[in-house]
Amino acid sequence: MTRHLKVDAPIPDSPLDHMAQGVLGKPVNRLEGPLKVTGRATYAAEARPEGMLYGVLVQAAIPAGKVISIGEAPGGLAVIHDPRLIRYAAQGMASEGPTAGPDQVEYMGQAIAVVVAESFEAARAAAQALDITYEPSDVPVDPEAVEPERPKEKQSATGDLDRAMRDAAHCIDQVWHTPSHTSAAMEPHAAIAEWSGDHLTVRAGYQMLASSREQLADALGIEPGQVRVLAPYVGGGFGSKLGINADSVAAAIAAQQLGRPVQVVMSRQQVFDLAHRRSETRQRIRLACDAKGKLTGIGHDALVSNLPGVSFSEPVTQATPFTYQAAHRQIGHAIARIHRSCAGSVRAPGEAVGATVFECAMDELAEVAGIDPVELRLLNIPETEPGTNRPFSSHKLAEALREGASRFGWSDRRPTRQRLEGEWYIGMGVASAVRVNSLIESRARVTLRADGHAVVETDMTDIGTGSYTILGQIAAETLGVPVDRVAVRLGDSELPASSGSGGSFGAASSGTSVYLACAEIRSQIAALMGCDEADLTLHNGEARAGNVAHQLDALLQDDLQGDGHLEPGKTEDTVRQATWGSHWAEVAVNRWTGEVRVRRMLGVFACGRVLNEKTARSQCLGGMSFGLGMALTEVIEHDPRDGHMVTRDLAEYHIPCHADVPPLEVHFLAESDTFVGPLHAKGLGELGICGAGAAILNAIHNACGVRVRNLPATPDKIIADMEV
Ligand code: MOS
Repeated sequence: MTRHLKVDAPIPDSPLDHMAQGVLGKPVNRLEGPLKVTGRATYAAEARPEGMLYGVLVQAAIPAGKVISIGEAPGGLAVIHDPRLIRYAAQGMASEGPTAGPDQVEYMGQAIAVVVAESFEAARAAAQALDITYEPSDVPVDPEAVEPERPKEKQSATGDLDRAMRDAAHCIDQVWHTPSHTSAAMEPHAAIAEWSGDHLTVRAGYQMLASSREQLADALGIEPGQVRVLAPYVGGGFGSKLGINADSVAAAIAAQQLGRPVQVVMSRQQVFDLAHRRSETRQRIRLACDAKGKLTGIGHDALVSNLPGVSFSEPVTQATPFTYQAAHRQIGHAIARIHRSCAGSVRAPGEAVGATVFECAMDELAEVAGIDPVELRLLNIPETEPGTNRPFSSHKLAEALREGASRFGWSDRRPTRQRLEGEWYIGMGVASAVRVNSLIESRARVTLRADGHAVVETDMTDIGTGSYTILGQIAAETLGVPVDRVAVRLGDSELPASSGSGGSFGAASSGTSVYLACAEIRSQIAALMGCDEADLTLHNGEARAGNVAHQLDALLQDDLQGDGHLEPGKTEDTVRQATWGSHWAEVAVNRWTGEVRVRRMLGVFACGRVLNEKTARSQCLGGMSFGLGMALTEVIEHDPRDGHMVTRDLAEYHIPCHADVPPLEVHFLAESDTFVGPLHAKGLGELGICGAGAAILNAIHNACGVRVRNLPATPDKIIADMEV
C-alpha cells in the first residue's frame, strides 16, 4: 500500500516526536562508513565488467566553430566521433541548450570524441595524438564585453530606490566581483557502460538518478525504460553531478558500437572543463538607511554569464527580496552570452555568492552609519516576506545572531583595527546565513521482514552527505527497531524514484517518503495487534499496546511492505520557506605580506529538525570551509583570448586544505518547522556556505581596514590597499 502525502497544510504535531526508539537526531555513525574506510565501497570507476575497454575523451581546442575532421588514431584504435556525443556535449550539461549542429563546438575543452583502447594509457596517448582540424568562429568570451540579456521576469522594482539613496542619512553604492568557481568533488566524473541487447546499464557518479536516466535516454535516442543507472556511492557532487556528463554518453555510444563494456574516466583537468562552473558575477549593491539604521532602500544588480541558449542562470539575488526589509527595492539580473564553459549549479547556487556579497555590503553600511553590524541586521529583519506579505514558515535569523554573538564573544570586538599581535592584525566579522528551502517529489519502499529486520529502498543517492544513515534512522525510529536492524539500499534507478540529492532538498524529501512508507507499516502492525495506531508503541523490536506486547519476529507471519510518496504542496506557496543562521570569523592579517589566517569560525544554524547531529554538523563544516575558499583562495582564471580555464587542477585552483581551516564550531538552534511535512526538517547542505565568506571578508576589514570587493582576497589585493 502506498501512503501519499501532499504538503498542503502545516502539520503542527510531528508524529516523530512521539516515537519510542529515540534514535532520530542522534550522532549515529555512517552506516556505510566501514565500507568506505576499508575501500570496499565501489565508486563509479571501480567496477570491472569482463572485457572492459578504456575510453578517453577528446576535447576541442577552439572556443567555438566546427570540427572538420578528427583524424585517425595510431594502431587502428577506435575513434568515435558520434553526433550524439558532440550535440550533447555542446549543450554543456543543460537539458536544453544551443541546438548545436553535429559538429558544433561551443566552448574550449568541450568533448568532441572518444578514443577507445585496451588500456587507459593507449587510449590517452592516441587521444592526444589526433590531428583535428576545425573551422573556428570568432566569439565573445568576456562577460563585460557584450551587451547582456535582461529577462523581464528577472527584474523587479518597488518604490523609488534613487530617491531613497538621495534622501538617505547613510548609504553605500559599490560593485563586487566573484570569479568562476568549480565544484571540486573529490571523485572525478566517471562512467562504465554495458549493453545487454538494447538495454543499457551505466555505473556513474550522479546526484539524481531518475532525471539522469531520462537525460541519458534522451541523449542516446532511446527510451528511459532501456536504461538502468547505478550510483551506490558517490564521492561528492556539489552540483557537478546533478545531470549526466560526456563521460557516460561517450561510454554508452562506444560500448554499443564496440560490443564490449567501456569505461570513461575524466582527468581532473577534464572535470574542470566539462563539469559546469559557477558563473562569475558582478554585483552592484546599493543600500540606504535612516539615521537610526533602518534600511530605506535595497538595490541588487547582478551580471552573470552562460553559453547562448542555456536556461540556467546563477540566481544571485534569490534571497535578497526577503532577507531584509526596505520600502524601496530594486533587483536586476543580466546574463552575458559568452563562450566560457557551461555555467550551472555549484553548491548553493545563488546565495553562495549573492548572500556573501550582500552581507559584505551590510558590513560597509554598518561602518558608514556607525552602527554595530549585528545591530544593523537585527534592526532590519522583516516580520513577513516583503512584497508578498507571506508569513515565514519559521524565522530564526534574530536568534541566530544573538546566540552567535554571545557564543563568539562579539562584545570584545572593536569597530576598527581590533589589535596587533606581533605582525598580525586581528579582526572579527559577522554575516547572516540564509538559503531558500523546498521539497521535491520523492518515493520510497520499506519492507519489514518477518524476522524483524527492515529494508529501505529508494533511488536516492548518498553523495557523502549521510543519506544512508539518516534514512536508516528515520526507518528505525518509525518502526521501533535498532538502527543495525535496518538495511538501506540506494543508488539504483530500478528502485522507487526519489528527489535525489541537490538543492538541500534531499534529506527532507527522501526522508519524508521513507517516513510515509514506515507509517504505512505501522498501520499494518496496529491491525495485527488489533489496536488503534495511536495506542501502538514500537520499541527495540517489540510492539506494545496496552497490556499486550509481542516481539515483531513473533508477531509477523509475513513480510510487511509500505510505499511512501511525498509531493510538495501548497505550503511551497503559502509561506516563505527558508533556513537561517549566522556566521562568525576571527582572522589574522599579516601587516607586511597581506596573508590572511582564519583563526576560528562559528556557524549558528536553524534548519528544522536535525536528523543526525554528526552528519548535519559535517555538512556545515563543509559549507563553512567552502566559504573560506570563496573568501580567500578559490578562483578560476579564464584565458582572455579563448575563455579557457587556466587554473584547472587542484594545484592551481586552491580549495582550503587542513592547514587553512581553523577549528570550526557549529551550533544548531532547536527548531521545528511545521510547513515542511511531518519530519519538520529542512535543508542543511548549502546553508553553511551562504554568508560564510562574508564573515571572513568583514573580519579582514575589521583587522586591517581593507575592503576586498574582487574575490578572493589574496595577499596581493590586501597589501595593495593596506595602510601600515
Ligand atoms: Mo546542488 S548545487 O543543487 O547539488
